[in-house]
Amino acid sequence: MAPKLFPEGFLWGTAISSFQAEMGRGEPASASDWWTWVHDAVNISGGRVSGELPEDGPGFWELYPGDLRLAKEELGNNAVRLSIDWARIFPASTEAVEVDVKKNGSGNISGIVVDEEAMRGLEDLADVTAVRRYREILSEARRLRLKVMLTLFHWPLPAWLHDAVACRDDVANAGRKGWLDEATLVEFAKYAAYAGRRFGDLVDLWATVNETRIASEYAYLRGEFPPGLRDFDLFMTAYRNLSAAHGFGYEQLKRWAPSSGGGGTKVGVVAVLQYYEPENPDDPRDVAAANFNEYLWNEWSLNAVTSGDYDMDLDGVAGPGERLPHLAKGCDFIGVNHYLRQRVRHGESRLGEHLKGGDCSDIGWEIHPQGLRLVLDWVWRRYRLPVYVTENGIADASDSKRVRYLLGYLDELHRAVSEDGVPVRGYFHWTLMDSYEWNRGFGTRFGLYCVDAATKERVPTRTVPVYREICSSNSLP
Ligand code: BGC
Repeated sequence: MAPKLFPEGFLWGTAISSFQAEMGRGEPASASDWWTWVHDAVNISGGRVSGELPEDGPGFWELYPGDLRLAKEELGNNAVRLSIDWARIFPASTEAVEVDVKKNGSGNISGIVVDEEAMRGLEDLADVTAVRRYREILSEARRLRLKVMLTLFHWPLPAWLHDAVACRDDVANAGRKGWLDEATLVEFAKYAAYAGRRFGDLVDLWATVNETRIASEYAYLRGEFPPGLRDFDLFMTAYRNLSAAHGFGYEQLKRWAPSSGGGGTKVGVVAVLQYYEPENPDDPRDVAAANFNEYLWNEWSLNAVTSGDYDMDLDGVAGPGERLPHLAKGCDFIGVNHYLRQRVRHGESRLGEHLKGGDCSDIGWEIHPQGLRLVLDWVWRRYRLPVYVTENGIADASDSKRVRYLLGYLDELHRAVSEDGVPVRGYFHWTLMDSYEWNRGFGTRFGLYCVDAATKERVPTRTVPVYREICSSNSLP
């Protein structure tokens, strides 16, 4: 059979995130809500977090030259997806830096202007060591000719913006409320402007927010991420603000990030899109529950980002008061994180019940390669924007399913491109090496390389030679 070729210039890479991968070798703690959260005794004793700590992580902060070399030389990658830690860059508050905040008739923020003077104020506040190190990391990627996708917000917020423990204990009276507070958008715009200015010459593609959905769902509905609450209204507020953050980040990056290649600075958002299927396709209640999941989790935030449609009452249409075009500043591509299929049975809530079972990863995520093609087809049909698969991978500590997983999902990706015409421009496997899986700690192993906790040695999984062959030949066997 002829090899299945991918389009010329297709990006092949791996993804990591700063909080999950950086720590482990001597560098200072991250002054973020997540840092506080995973060290909090109540969270640990209550089982909200694993008790394992990010400072025992793979140590990318120091070991990045070796890791990037593995990506380039051993995996044959031509791209890498990284993120920067807002709290590392601004460990102390930027609130005193004055910017022009415009409000609309309802008193909501509609525009944020960061000028040269504000930029000087931000320069004074930024942590010089962190900025220098991030520039070294990005420069090394560039030297290796790895294209860089850089994410601004991959979940930790600076602790000066979010007192997660106080919010957990009494959100009504807490002082710093993170994404519940619209004022966080203003600080995010400053951070985006500054990051664009300082790193733009070394970045090929920008992603503003990683997964508006998981960042709000797990924090405000499932009670697992900081601040550990379960409240639908709070969830919707955070979901709204995280979606709006994209627009303000987009605007600042367009203004401040020099374009590192031709064609202007490219800025997108990263959405996690799961494939939802009714348990019983003949039962209209299961169908309705699956459709509602798809709408709330896959579509809602992308509608907000791309059109400014904020359907806050979730009736499926953005009514007059829910149409906020001034928040839709633009989106050059959609990053798709895709992992699993979710089968849905109707239940007491509109979301229904998510069924487990089938062929699964270590954490019960169902392996269902066809789902990738289906969500790629959907996102292209619906939004008509170029697409990158920004995360896809499997928790597989025994290393027995990863090769099959990779080949299956890439085959479907190839079909989406070659048969359905979806403009997928790249694929980033999650993740380069085992890293800190948020509240789950280190037991969940997504890495193409296992990490020895004591020595930090990177040990290749069986997928490494397989992925290398694919990346170097730009084709599937
Ligand atoms: C997140 C990653 C995480 C991965 C696996 C994604 O939702 O972006 O940070 O490690 O899922 O859980």
